[in-house]
Formats: sequence, C-alpha cells, structure tokens
Amino acid sequence: MTKLSVNLNKVALLRNTRTIGIPSVTKAAQICLSAGAHGITVHPRPDQRHIRPADVYELAEMLTVEFNIEGNPYFSEFMEIVRKVKPTQCTLVPDAANVFTSDHGWNLTEHSQRLAPIIQELKELGIRISLFMDPDLAPIERAKEIGADRIELYTEPYATAFRNQTDVEAVWQQFARAAKQAQEIGLGVNAGHDLNLQNLAKFCAIPGILEVSIGHALIAEALEMGLSATVKAYLKILAQA
Ligand code: PXP
Repeated sequence: MTKLSVNLNKVALLRNTRTIGIPSVTKAAQICLSAGAHGITVHPRPDQRHIRPADVYELAEMLTVEFNIEGNPYFSEFMEIVRKVKPTQCTLVPDAANVFTSDHGWNLTEHSQRLAPIIQELKELGIRISLFMDPDLAPIERAKEIGADRIELYTEPYATAFRNQTDVEAVWQQFARAAKQAQEIGLGVNAGHDLNLQNLAKFCAIPGILEVSIGHALIAEALEMGLSATVKAYLKILAQA
C-alpha cells in the first residue's frame, strides 16, 4: 500500500493568523497519526509563513513515525534544521524564497554539481534523500547518479489534467513511464502536489508509488467533512445554555 504522509503546512498557516496557538500543529499531527496516517511532512520556508523552525523541533520530539522535511537546501536555515532534526526523509525542492508553492522539479543539468555534496552530507547523517522531480526521463537518471534514494514526482500537471479532464490518459502515462524508469534504475518513487480525494486513486494505479504527501486538499477536505459536526457541537451548547 502507498503510504500517506500528511503535510501540515496549512494548519500552521491558519495558526499563524492569530497568536493563541490554534489550530495546534502537534495536535493535528496526533490526530492524523491516530487516524492511521503513516507519516508527517512539513515544508519550512524562509518567510516562515506557515511551518516555523519551532514547529519542526516540536514535531521531531513527539513523532515516532516517518518525518519528512521538504524544502530548498540552498537556504542555510533549512539545512540547519535538517542537520539538527535528522528526519527519516528529506525531500529537496528547488522552490524560490517567496514562491506561492513548489512549482517545478529540479533542473539537474544546472544543479547536479551543487546538489551532489549536499545529498552526500545528509545521507551520511542517516537521512533518506528524495528529489522533487518532473516526470522527465533524463533528469531522473541524473538523480540516481548524484546519490538520491528516491524521487518525488511533482504531480500538479496530472492534477490539472484530471480537474479539466483534458489529456488525463496521456499525462498519467507520462508519470507512469517516469515512475517505471526510476524504479528500474533503483530509485524509490514518491509523489505529491495537488493530490486529492478525487484524483488519488487513479494516480496510485501507477505501480510501486511508495508514498504520497498531501496537504492543501486534505486540509480543505477536512474542513468540509468536519464543518457540519462542529457547527452541531456549537448549536448543542447554545441549545443548552
Ligand atoms: N510535495 C512538495 C515538494 C510540496 O512543496 C508540497 C506543497 O508544500 C506538497 C508535496 C504537497 O502539495 P499539496 O499541498 O498540494 O498537497
């Protein structure tokens, strides 16, 4: 079964709009794990608009499952956090400082030389390394050459095709080919970005996807699925008051 790692960035984003610590990122992690999630993902960014370094340290203290920290290794604070926490997995992502969300995989023609020693250093700390990649065959071979253990396929193009119902089959095939190629050369394959309750089953029909990390849609769906029960809980108090 493909493992589910829940990305808690959106919980932190909401928490950061007030100063009273709700919703709590650690409590959200506990709820996810009690519900059976296999791991927790966070993506600390330099502007700290969602997950902050303190969140990463608190989660590291409490988690007994896979902890996946994703982000850009060219930011020194990111590397500091990863060196201290030594998570199970570090997913390296080429996102610019103020980007809205991760929006492409690594260009390994440009970045192999700089990334290779970073990958080596983190692997020596016992961290599994995954590189965020587009579903293109040649760069995936390079990912293996520079020492990655896994790749995470950037699934936004698949999610967009699925949402618009245009070229879904062709786009899915491209991801399936990329996954197969990666597996054949010994890379594990994770996937993430814009996966949701509608598009996940088809994506995971690709054989051997080890892990999906899902944040935005999962938290949005949690609001929709939990809103009715919450409103009822408030109404019960008002009715009894
Ligand atoms: N993978 C990476 C590398 C990401 O940056 C993100 C978003 O933070 C995700 C997966 C999860 O994407 P989404 O929030 O759309 O589920």
